Order: sequence, then C-alpha cells, then structure tokens
Amino acid sequence: MVKTILISGSPRNGKTESILKEMDGELILLRNLKIKHCTGCLTCEKTHKCVIQDDMQALYPKLENADVIVIGTPNYFENVPGILKDFIDRTCPQSFSEKLKGKKLMPIIVGEMAIEFQKRVTKNALECFARAHNMILEEGKYFQNTLDF
Ligand SMILES: Cc1cc2nc3c(=O)[nH]c(=O)nc-3n(C[C@H](O)[C@H](O)[C@H](O)COP(=O)(O)O)c2cc1C
Repeated sequence: MVKTILISGSPRNGKTESILKEMDGELILLRNLKIKHCTGCLTCEKTHKCVIQDDMQALYPKLENADVIVIGTPNYFENVPGILKDFIDRTCPQSFSEKLKGKKLMPIIVGEMAIEFQKRVTKNALECFARAHNMILEEGKYFQNTLDF
C-alpha cells in the first residue's frame, strides 16, 4: 500500500486544510507543532541529524516512512508561509542522508489569484526542495480560492 503523508503549511484552519482533509493519508498540521528555525549550524552535514530538539524530530521518521509527501500550502507572496519554510529548512539532515530520495512530492497550492500565480509557489519554493532531496516532483493541484474563510 502507498503511504501518503499530508503536510499542511497553513497557519490557520482554512482552505488548504479543508482540501487536505478530503485526501487519504496522515494529516500533519504544522500550525500545531513547535518547529524552530534552522540555525544554519550545518552539524547535520556530518551527523545527518538535527541538534534542535523539538517537534521536527517526530516528523523525520514519518517523512522517511512515506512514499508520497503532499505539501499543502497557501500562496504567501508567491512563496510558502514561514512555518512551512521552517519545516523545509529543517529537512536539511535528510538531504545529506538522502533519506527522502525517490519519494513523490505533490504540491497542493491555494491562493486568491489566477492559477498561473499559484504555480509560482512551486517554482519558488518546492522545485528546489524536491531537487535537493532527489524527490520526484509531481504535477500538483492548484486552486484559486475566491471564498472567504
Ligand atoms: C501574507 C499573505 C500573502 C498572500 N499573498 C498572496 C499572493 O501572492 N498570491 C495569491 O494568490 N494569494 C495570496 N494570499 C492569499 C492566500 O493565499 C489565500 O487567502 C489562501 O487561500 C489562504 O489559504 P488558507 O485558507 O489555507 O489560509 C496571501 C495571503 C496572505 C495572508
């Protein structure tokens, strides 16, 4: 069976979460977790581990056990919100250990503007994330959210 993990990068219970809740897989709400900024120490380059002890430690094995990693995120200035960027930065140990290699990365992007602007979030934030981990970037799904949440 394909194991899917659904990561919500939205700081609130809004459109992104409602889309992810319709999908199969384990839903992770970053807004409920304590994930500190990467400090750039690069200890992980040698140890393949992060020295920061917070909720990210429980996410590392979850990511490694998944076949498909869905990243659901609102469009914030054609990038991802800070809480999701912190999560991405903290996967640095796994880029050195190559533990996420070959997994599928599926973007789900939600924003107010036309779809072409939503695709820029993948370009600006997720293409490099996928490349750095040797993950396979899937086509993704893009939503224009014209409703108020
Ligand atoms: C700080 C901020 C920046 C935003 N920038 C954009 C943007 O550049 N383009 C866009 O289409 N929507 C932008 N939006 C709108 C959100 O992407 C949109 O409301 C989204 O549906 C919110 O998702 P959520 O309901 O999961 O929080 C922005 C919203 C905020 C709060």
